[in-house]
Amino acid sequence: MLITAKSGGGKTFMAQMFLTMMARLNPLISILERGSSYRPLVELMGGRCIDVDLEGAETLNAWDLPVGSTTPSNDKLAFLKNLTRHMIGMNSPAADTSILDNLLTDAIVSTYQRCRTREDRPIPTFNDLRQELETWRDESEVERVRDEAQLAAVKLREWTGEKVYARLFDRPTTIRTDENWLFFNVEGLTSDPKLESSMSMIIANAMSERASDGPGSRISRFSTSAGLFSIRRCWRRRWNSFSGPVESAARASGASARHWKILWGLRRSHDRTARAS
Ligand SMILES: Nc1ncnc2c1ncn2[C@@H]1O[C@H](COP(=O)(O)OP(=O)(O)OP(=O)(O)O)[C@@H](O)[C@H]1O
Ligand SMILES: [Mg+2]
Repeated sequence: MLITAKSGGGKTFMAQMFLTMMARLNPLISILERGSSYRPLVELMGGRCIDVDLEGAETLNAWDLPVGSTTPSNDKLAFLKNLTRHMIGMNSPAADTSILDNLLTDAIVSTYQRCRTREDRPIPTFNDLRQELETWRDESEVERVRDEAQLAAVKLREWTGEKVYARLFDRPTTIRTDENWLFFNVEGLTSDPKLESSMSMIIANAMSERASDGPGSRISRFSTSAGLFSIRRCWRRRWNSFSGPVESAARASGASARHWKILWGLRRSHDRTARAS
């Protein structure tokens, strides 16, 4: 469902009214938004509000696997590869990134394999991928591949170790996502569009994964334009002909006969104006 209106036109009001009506079905509801307009409703429903920012201790590790699983699915590999490309700024659709794509996918698989045997922390984080890329040796021994790997490793430094973004991207998960109502406020990330969109991709993926486990109704609502952008990117491969939020909602509904999902895409033109200024 796509709701559009001018700023102050009642989009949030209407979305909250729908959510309240659906609450009787006891669905899983995941909200990703800038600002705290959903906080009162989510608190009223006994859900969890999570302020995602660089100062907090709240982390969702993009590398997490479903309980009991030790190897990533192809979907997970594609997601991590696309996320990594986005983080290192190699996400232009026009660029020929086939070498980088292949090498990232191989390096992500190797990273999982290497970390699986690690007793204390079998699930990797981005620093493990950075280390893998730093010493990457392609079986073809093509120099260009090694160069691309090393360049990607250098670009990943910003997101790993003790760097500013590492707290969000290079730590094991601390956020509990077992509440029916979850609200992620990403207002604290708006200083850097790449940071906000990367984190929105991770949240969207984690919410999509929680929505695909077990029975029940699922609702995911992603309203910032950055959120929509992220979803487009991370689901592009999975749903090849994805062309907009309405279509994605239809596809999501069709993905499971027992479950249904509504993606409410909301564009806040004043956000874009504020960002441009
Ligand atoms: N149908 C309605 N009845 C009564 N009040 C309403 C109705 N729709 C909206 N409002 C009130 O109008 C104000 C603005 O609504 P809302 O915050 O939903 O707008 P919005 O489209 O989400 O704005 P923004 O683009 O700034 O997020 C709020 O105070 C809300 O309570
Ligand atoms: Mg609103």
